[in-house]
Amino acid sequence: MNIKADEVASLKALDKEHVWHHITPTAAAKAGVPLFVRGEGLQLWDSEGKEYLDASSGGVWVTNVGYGRREIADAVHEQLCALNYFSGAAATKPGALFADALIDKMPGMSRVYYSSSGSEANEKAFKMVRQIAAKHYGGKKHKILFRERDYHGTTITALSASGQNERREQFGPFTPGFVEFPHCLEYRNQYGNDVDYGVRAAEAMEEVILREGADTVGAVILEPITAGGGIILPPQGYWEKIREICDKYNVLLIIDEVVCGLGRTGAWFGYQHYGIKPDMVTMAKGVASGYAPISCTVTTEKVYELLSEAEGDHLGFFRDISTFGGCTSAPAAALKNMEILENENLIENSARMGERLLAGFETLKAKHPVIGDVRGKGLFCGIEMVADRETREPVHESVSAAVAGRCKELGLLIGRTNRSIAGYNNVLNFAPALVITEAQVDRIIEVLDQAFSEVCA
Ligand SMILES: Cc1ncc(COP(=O)(O)O)c(C=O)c1O
Repeated sequence: MNIKADEVASLKALDKEHVWHHITPTAAAKAGVPLFVRGEGLQLWDSEGKEYLDASSGGVWVTNVGYGRREIADAVHEQLCALNYFSGAAATKPGALFADALIDKMPGMSRVYYSSSGSEANEKAFKMVRQIAAKHYGGKKHKILFRERDYHGTTITALSASGQNERREQFGPFTPGFVEFPHCLEYRNQYGNDVDYGVRAAEAMEEVILREGADTVGAVILEPITAGGGIILPPQGYWEKIREICDKYNVLLIIDEVVCGLGRTGAWFGYQHYGIKPDMVTMAKGVASGYAPISCTVTTEKVYELLSEAEGDHLGFFRDISTFGGCTSAPAAALKNMEILENENLIENSARMGERLLAGFETLKAKHPVIGDVRGKGLFCGIEMVADRETREPVHESVSAAVAGRCKELGLLIGRTNRSIAGYNNVLNFAPALVITEAQVDRIIEVLDQAFSEVCA
């Protein structure tokens, strides 16, 4: 859909007058935000006709199969004409089919609970933990642990479980019963060089369990690879130790795959790189690539059984609903999205193109001292910028913002840690759609090279 030139000015004026933009400082909104009108693959066009290469998948890592997928639009259209909605208390054709297709990709998992945002999927998981505590542990095992630098969503309780101090600032008081433990970013090792960092960082979780009392801790929620907190890959041995500690203290392991799920990191799910078995998995963004809002909380059969009522216990089942979790367009879009990922081998492409992107970052690192660390898995990669490589002092966020800004002027959209962690908003992030080609990867490197040269000379 192209917007006529004379419409653009009026739309921009209406937008400025009435739309309250997400996570945008007021001054930036007043200056005007872009008006995007069309997308195809990784390419995006604004109302001025300027073309961008989008390495952010819609700003927040959503459009895994790329823009302009008519086959998803057609599947949604067909489903909406047949039946648009009935509450999730009933069965629907796309709901049943997508749940089956999803479970097929997640050995060991069994049940799919539908809702419509990542925050909501995590809220469902938290409610399950709380209800399991109430039903089976006299309410005592109700605490939920989360990790410094992870993010789990925007609602007050999801923020209560988020380890990003700037995200939380001014929104308290928070929901009680959520407890933080230290991050596992080896580049910023807190324990000294003579430790086995992965094991030591996992033991930091055990220390918190013991301090709180294992009989009070019901679950831990973790991102498989931390996203907005700075693209943090788990160090060697970390996940194995985390699972071992969870088993030791009977703590449920919730893995937040809202970003990493559906191929982003070169596997169907991020946790599958590490061979661990979760108790619950949440997902959202790439599930339907933004063609419809959908999120899922997936559990083992054991969790489902813990929340099944005994005879005569009329409150004993999971008494939860998500109105829009019943929209049939969502699983219809998700089914087609999954079909595309499979038919076009996009998971493999994510792994392959991710390696090329990281190799490109390494060449940039050899050239630009402002690059302190590069890291990533599949098509989810980051560059940590430093003022001094020796001391690893982070650059001021205005510097990473300037690099991202220059990339945008040059027609490349990238992301960056933004109002997340005080003093450490210094990581650029890259999550292009999984359909990316070698030439497009090379273009990202070329533009970045120019931006670093101009901004950080
Ligand atoms: C890891 C993670 N979990 C949860 C969320 C929240 O998802 P939503 O914005 O769909 O509520 C996000 C959003 O960026 C996220 O990055």
